[in-house]
Amino acid sequence: MNVAAVRSDFPILSREVSGKPLVYLDNGATTQKPRAVIDKISRFFEHENSNIHRGVHYLSMDATDQYDRARERLAKMINAPKTCEVLFVRGTTEAINLVTNSYGERLQEGDEILLTMMEHHANIVPWQILAKRKGLVIQVAGINENGELDLDDFSAKLNERTKVAAFTHVSNALGTINPVKEMTRLAKEKGAMVLVDGAQAVPHLRVDVQDIGCDFYAFSSHKMFGPDGVGVLWGRQQWLNAMPPYQGGGDMIEQVSFAGTTFRGIPERFEAGTPNISGAIGLGAAVDYLNEIGHEKIELYEKGLLDYATAVMSEISGLNIHGRAADKVGVISFTLDGIHPHDIGTILDTEGVAIRAGHHCAQPLMDHLKVSGTARASFAFYNTCEEADTLVAAIRKVQKMFA
Ligand code: ALA
Repeated sequence: MNVAAVRSDFPILSREVSGKPLVYLDNGATTQKPRAVIDKISRFFEHENSNIHRGVHYLSMDATDQYDRARERLAKMINAPKTCEVLFVRGTTEAINLVTNSYGERLQEGDEILLTMMEHHANIVPWQILAKRKGLVIQVAGINENGELDLDDFSAKLNERTKVAAFTHVSNALGTINPVKEMTRLAKEKGAMVLVDGAQAVPHLRVDVQDIGCDFYAFSSHKMFGPDGVGVLWGRQQWLNAMPPYQGGGDMIEQVSFAGTTFRGIPERFEAGTPNISGAIGLGAAVDYLNEIGHEKIELYEKGLLDYATAVMSEISGLNIHGRAADKVGVISFTLDGIHPHDIGTILDTEGVAIRAGHHCAQPLMDHLKVSGTARASFAFYNTCEEADTLVAAIRKVQKMFA
């Protein structure tokens, strides 16, 4: 992969922050956008903007066509059996809330939901709200000292009462890649429905929902180089067809009268109101962009980058890396002895280095690790080993200031 060429596709990467070249290592929070995505969205608003489905005019038909083609690209990207199984939502959070609110209706008092210790709040809180409403029990599978899932514990916590297993594909705070195929197999053996939070996986890995065997797969556009405010919930047709609407409104209906309303089929039934049209089209452009580079090349490059960054950061005394899974993406969560993560983040910023500091929307995991938070450098395929060196030099500067 020609990283210099890749970097030139991302205009923001050539700017400075605090008078220093930007070193953007907060990709777990959101990724930067390539020119192809930026241009696609501005072209849409400059020349093509229209609402979809309703108008019988050229622009509306063209916008509808582009929106539908974006859905096809996404279905292909995750190897969904059917394009209509891909729902556009606001992001991973809304995708999971859609499932808890709609699929969740079928759960009954005493049913169990199995989560893991490394879940993002987006895959905890919606289940807790549902559990409270319906009298459900939440179980949590543990992790080992490397931040890998304890598969024995996961397996032991599955039983005939487990109706849902919901887990992340990749941990946003540790970078751990979970064995989602095996986890799905184990959960399915007990008859549980499986939801996978793919927010941190899609920017790094090739995802195949049929190979995983799950029932729902959720992810956000903005973490995979597309615009924010749009994302995807993929669900098996058999479930989506059987689920009640999540939100009511225009575009999701067949017939409305005051006596009652009938609903359209999928995907429209779950896309009430005017959707994020430009967002979906921009996300389609991000899929094209990633396909052009190639997922295999991205994975290989990022692996080298992670190995390098881990090696150079491990040389810093007083630096502790949280999460040393054998299988992980380019996320390095760390603490420095005696220095608060927010101070690390603030001082790195003065060196032009952008990282995230805090609990990373994973407070139960932080409690488990017995830290209030960590500093997190999260890499994308446009980052370089030189940037990892800049990060290391900046961390040493932080340590000197606190020495
Ligand atoms: N979930 C995002 C992160 O990990 C915001 O930073």
